[in-house]
Parts: sequence; C-alpha cells; structure tokens
Amino acid sequence: MRGALATRVVLVVIGAVAVAHAQLLPFVSERGGGPLSVRSMGRCPPANFSAVPLDVMAYAAAPWYVQKQLPLNYQPVNELYCVRAEYTLRNPSNISAGLIANNYANRGGVNGAVQGSSKYDRNNATLLALPADTPDGSDGRLLVGPKELLDMFPRAWRSIFGPYWVVAVGPSKNATIKYDWAIISGGQPKYEAANGTCTTLPPNNRTAVDAALLAALNESAMRAPRITGRPLQPPAFDSGGLWFFSRKPVDPEATAAMTQRAQGSAVPPTDWLLTDVTAELGLDTSKLVPVQQEGCKYQA
Ligand SMILES: *[C@@H]1O[C@H](CO)[C@@H](O)[C@H](O)[C@H]1NC(C)=O
Ligand SMILES: *[C@@H]1O[C@H](CO)[C@@H](O)[C@H](O)[C@H]1NC(C)=O
Ligand SMILES: *[C@@H]1O[C@H](CO)[C@@H](O)[C@H](O)[C@H]1NC(C)=O
Ligand SMILES: *[C@@H]1O[C@H](CO)[C@@H](O)[C@H](O)[C@H]1NC(C)=O
Ligand SMILES: *[C@@H]1O[C@H](CO)[C@@H](O)[C@H](O)[C@H]1NC(C)=O
Ligand SMILES: *[C@@H]1O[C@H](CO)[C@@H](O)[C@H](O)[C@H]1NC(C)=O
Ligand SMILES: *[C@@H]1O[C@H](CO)[C@@H](O)[C@H](O)[C@H]1NC(C)=O
Repeated sequence: MRGALATRVVLVVIGAVAVAHAQLLPFVSERGGGPLSVRSMGRCPPANFSAVPLDVMAYAAAPWYVQKQLPLNYQPVNELYCVRAEYTLRNPSNISAGLIANNYANRGGVNGAVQGSSKYDRNNATLLALPADTPDGSDGRLLVGPKELLDMFPRAWRSIFGPYWVVAVGPSKNATIKYDWAIISGGQPKYEAANGTCTTLPPNNRTAVDAALLAALNESAMRAPRITGRPLQPPAFDSGGLWFFSRKPVDPEATAAMTQRAQGSAVPPTDWLLTDVTAELGLDTSKLVPVQQEGCKYQA
C-alpha cells in the first residue's frame, strides 16, 4: 500500500513537472537526432557553445519572470501566463545542496488556475536545481529534476535530470542580484533550425526520444525493485528548451537584448567583467512564444 502510494506519487510528480530530459543519455541523443540531425553535418551546436560563469547566490537572490520561451510538453502554450521562477537555497551555507525551484504559472489566461512546482505544486512535489559539474554551479550548468527522483536514483539522477544552462546574462547595477536578465538553454542546441541557427528540440517529432527515455527510466526502476516495487510507467517527457528571463515582469528592452544575444548578433557588453564574451549563441528564436505578464497577481 505504502509502496504503491509512493510509486503513484512519483508518477504524479513526473507527470506534473516532466523535467527528465533525454539529451543527457548518449544513446537517446543518437536515436533522437535521426537523419535530420545536424550532428552529422557538424553545424550544431555552434562551436564553443557553453554556459557562462555564474554566481548562483546572486542568480537566486530575486525572482525571474519569463519574457519568452519555447512551448514544451510540460509547459504548453495554454500555460504560458504569468510564468515566474523563484529559487531558494536548500542549504544557505552550501550551494552544492542545490536550489528549490518554485515555478509559478497560470493556465488558460492571466491569473487563471495556478500551477507550478514545489510550493506551487498541488502535490507539494519539490523540484530541484543542482550544480551539474561544479560544487557551486559557477560554470552556469545546473540539472533540474524532482527531488523524488534524486532520492530514488541517488546514482543515476544525473542522466534523468534535465540540463539547465545559463548561457548569457545581462549585468545589473544591483550587486545583490548581479544580473538583470538571463538566457537559459536546456543544454546543447544540437539540432539545426531555420537559417543555420541551432535548437535544443529535435526537428522531427520526439516520439523516439521519449520512448528511449521511458525505456531507460524503466530499466533503472527495474534495477531498484525494493524502492519502486514495480516498473515505472512514466508519461511523456521532454527535452531541451529556451527561456528568456528578466527580473522585471514586463521588460521589452531586456527581451530585445536577449533576442539579439541569442541569435548571435554582437551586443556591446556594458560591463566586460560581468558579461560573457564567448562564442555566438546562434540560437533559433523563431519558435519562442511571448509570455504574458501584464496584470499578473502572482499568488504568494
Ligand atoms: C554540501 O552539500 C553536498 C551535497 O548535498 C554534500 O555532498 C557536501 O558534503 C556538503 N558540504 C558541506 C560542507 O556540508
Ligand atoms: C510542503 O512541504 C514543505 C516542506 O517539506 C512543508 O513545510 C509544507 O508544510 C508542505 N505543505 C503542504 C501543503 O503539504
Ligand atoms: C537589489 O535587489 C534586491 C533584491 O531584489 C533588493 O532587495 C534591493 O533593494 C536592491 N537594491 C537596490 C539598491 O536597488
Ligand atoms: C530566415 O531569414 C529570413 C531572411 O532574414 C527571414 O525573413 C526569415 O524570417 C528567417 N526565418 C526564420 C524561421 O527565422
Ligand atoms: C512521430 O513518429 C512516430 C514514429 O516514427 C510516428 O508514428 C508518428 O506518426 C509521428 N508523429 C508525427 C506528428 O509526425
Ligand atoms: C519495463 O521493463 C519490463 C521488464 O523488462 C518490461 O516487461 C516492461 O514492458 C517495460 N515497460 C516499459 C514501459 O518499457
Ligand atoms: C573556440 O575556442 C577555441 C579555444 O579557445 C578558439 O581557438 C576558437 O577560435 C573558438 N572557435 C570559435 C568559432 O569561436
């Protein structure tokens, strides 16, 4: 009974946040890429595409409001209203323990039904963002996934969580928050899109990726029968993503700057110490959907 309940809860969590991304699993990438993958042509991801150095404390010091983003299985267009991300340190003296991601959104319209993760999830399911390769996330690379999956798969969680790379930031005059805007990519943009740009989402449909990830998760679950009691049957998963974050709910100036930066046009950095000067991002911005933030009440 207890085990069955736990399994059900985990599945609800998976369904609610669906953050396990396929692209960290190498074999999934190969299958998911298919013949249209630019991997074979070598143009995507752009040379030296990477995350930027990040002060995670400052990054998490104030909420972020999504200006534009790619619609995803777990964030469809119908739910892109008043989208806000708030991060709190799990352990204020140890960034390695990661951040709790409190994602907030309305469904159907501005101030519509509230949904999200962690404190906004109706099952109170905690969503975590953990440093991927460094103790303090200072390379700008995090991994996002449900705490339940971390607890269930203490060794395999890295291949189940989804990559969250901060690939560009706009400097802030406020030293506490350091950044006024940020571009987040769901890992490497491996696939070619329009006009030679790159995207994290496969051009063909994602059935193959989802099926492969499902099989991989199922395999992990089968290896840990003591915990799950039975195979996992996860619903649809997603991979990739692209988000434009601003500290201000409505911020057309930052959105314009992020669009330019994402596409790779040169934007003279206002502060060379803070602004990354890495290779062009060369990202496809044509599929980004504007997120309405006007009039949002943002339930506490
Ligand atoms: C910080 O947290 C990580 C991950 O939870 C843990 O492995 C490490 O021992 C902690 N460090 C300290 C100094 O508590
Ligand atoms: C949600 O979880 C947090 C942390 O475990 C706890 O403090 C809080 O009371 C829970 N809220 C609900 C509604 O279960
Ligand atoms: C800097 O940002 C923090 C967090 O939003 C805020 O509390 C503080 O008032 C800001 N400081 C200034 C000088 O604007
Ligand atoms: C590709 O570039 C052309 C010419 O600049 C532009 O008109 C078109 O909208 C672009 N397509 C996409 C999908 O961005
Ligand atoms: C996606 O691919 C699967 C398997 O190749 C196929 O059955 C399905 O019709 C495709 N869906 C779309 C929308 O193209
Ligand atoms: C999970 O694995 C078991 C045992 O290999 C298999 O019988 C079952 O069909 C698998 N389920 C899925 C959804 O892949
Ligand atoms: C990639 O980085 C290497 C090493 O820093 C550099 O030599 C090369 O020019 C970079 N390539 C591009 C396209 O920026």
